[in-house]
Amino acid sequence: MNMRSTSFVLLIFILCTPSVHTKGLLSSVILEAANSAVSLFTTISDLFQISTEKNELQLLAETLSELKHNLKIGLNSLLIRLEKSIYQNALTRYIDKINSCKKDYFNYVANPSDAAKRNLVKCSDIMESVRPLGNLLSGQRIFDSHPLFDLYKDGEGVCNGSAIESISKNLFADYVIGCTVASTIEAFENGVNTTLYGNECKDTISKVITYMRRLYSDCALPSCKTFHCSVQSLFGEIPPTSSQDLYSKLSEMYPWLNFLVFKLSKRGKVTAGGNFSIGHYDSHWINGYQYDIFFFDAYIQIIKESLNYSIAIEVPEELYDGHYFGNSTMTKIYFNGLTLTTFVGYASENNALCNDTSEYIRECHGTGTSNTLYGKVHIILIFVVLMYVL
Ligand SMILES: *[C@@H]1O[C@H](CO)[C@@H](O)[C@H](O)[C@H]1NC(C)=O
Ligand SMILES: *[C@@H]1O[C@H](CO)[C@@H](O)[C@H](O)[C@H]1NC(C)=O
Ligand SMILES: *[C@@H]1O[C@H](CO)[C@@H](O)[C@H](O)[C@H]1NC(C)=O
Ligand SMILES: *[C@@H]1O[C@H](CO)[C@@H](O)[C@H](O)[C@H]1NC(C)=O
Ligand SMILES: *[C@@H]1O[C@H](CO)[C@@H](O)[C@H](O)[C@H]1NC(C)=O
Ligand SMILES: *[C@@H]1O[C@H](CO)[C@@H](O)[C@H](O)[C@H]1NC(C)=O
Repeated sequence: MNMRSTSFVLLIFILCTPSVHTKGLLSSVILEAANSAVSLFTTISDLFQISTEKNELQLLAETLSELKHNLKIGLNSLLIRLEKSIYQNALTRYIDKINSCKKDYFNYVANPSDAAKRNLVKCSDIMESVRPLGNLLSGQRIFDSHPLFDLYKDGEGVCNGSAIESISKNLFADYVIGCTVASTIEAFENGVNTTLYGNECKDTISKVITYMRRLYSDCALPSCKTFHCSVQSLFGEIPPTSSQDLYSKLSEMYPWLNFLVFKLSKRGKVTAGGNFSIGHYDSHWINGYQYDIFFFDAYIQIIKESLNYSIAIEVPEELYDGHYFGNSTMTKIYFNGLTLTTFVGYASENNALCNDTSEYIRECHGTGTSNTLYGKVHIILIFVVLMYVL
């Protein structure tokens, strides 16, 4: 999988570059990796491991501190949502504790005097505030409340993807910063080779990643039904300026889905064939352009090289006005004399998300437009194209 290989490249870089360079690299990579919480957490998990071994945790802490400034939705919005519950009080206390210890920690690393060290050691109980954050992020309840991210599900179980992404990244950054402080103090008190807290944090981080994946797969199914209507209201609020713009807005709303976006200059039919099942929001007309959105599991990436599942998408040649595939790639094929351009790609596994088109709700409240029926596949032509490619 791509994100594993990204972390691997990172690993190599970090092992090979001197610390001065590591810092810039960490920042740029982590800020870039901010696309999806699960891939960000996986990267951070590897970095935490390496940084612990190399005793370079402060670079990671600084990067995470910086990352928090780039997130759209801050923790305040979460605390407001929790209203005046014990839950809110406790969470506020944990976060305040971590923030105050983070300051002492950065003071100490900037100027490791005895006074700064004494000050930092006062945070030796920080794990009592760090641990509950890890529990929340890995789906456990505290104080008999609901799991945290249930706050971001509506009545139909549809998750607010952008809020879950921001809040989880925020809390995760605090969690790992807290782990850094705890490991540092532990090393003062028990010698550099004690890694009790480091190990506890590593275990929890992997639980968080497992939980987030499960959460996203639970979020995915209800969101398929309402996909059309949510996208229509998104279009209503802020029409997309390009295929890429639309892709990034969709990825932010639906971190559990991946997309292929097509833009047409006139109304026309875009169809998909092949044995890879894919969701399709077809023929959305806005501001003089038509957009067609194909959607599938975020863990699947479509590539040009032949794999077990194939997909071929046909677009009327004279209407085609661009596309954006994110990190997927497809081969563009145009036969002289045919009026269709075909994009061919492959996946190693079939998509199981949003593949049941009869489940889609197409009549949306509050929007005037209604959509045409799911495109019928030009099976024969696509078969011909696939044979040509193979
Ligand atoms: C998702 O949550 C954010 C932050 O609470 C909010 O601004 C946004 O309107 C929500 N989106 C939806 C679709 O409910
Ligand atoms: C820590 O462990 C390393 C390798 O296991 C060893 O070389 C080093 O002497 C140990 N340091 C202390 C302070 O125990
Ligand atoms: C790229 O695709 C993979 C699926 O192979 C996905 O896990 C990863 O998050 C994607 N990366 C980005 C930056 O979208
Ligand atoms: C792909 O197909 C081949 C034979 O058609 C099969 O042996 C292999 O197990 C399949 N791979 C996957 C990942 O399904
Ligand atoms: C899917 O279609 C491709 C190309 O037509 C073919 O090679 C592959 O065997 C098919 N896979 C399955 C699982 O049917
Ligand atoms: C859609 O995905 C489900 C699993 O969620 C699978 O059982 C089904 O066969 C898939 N349908 C198609 C048309 O691929």
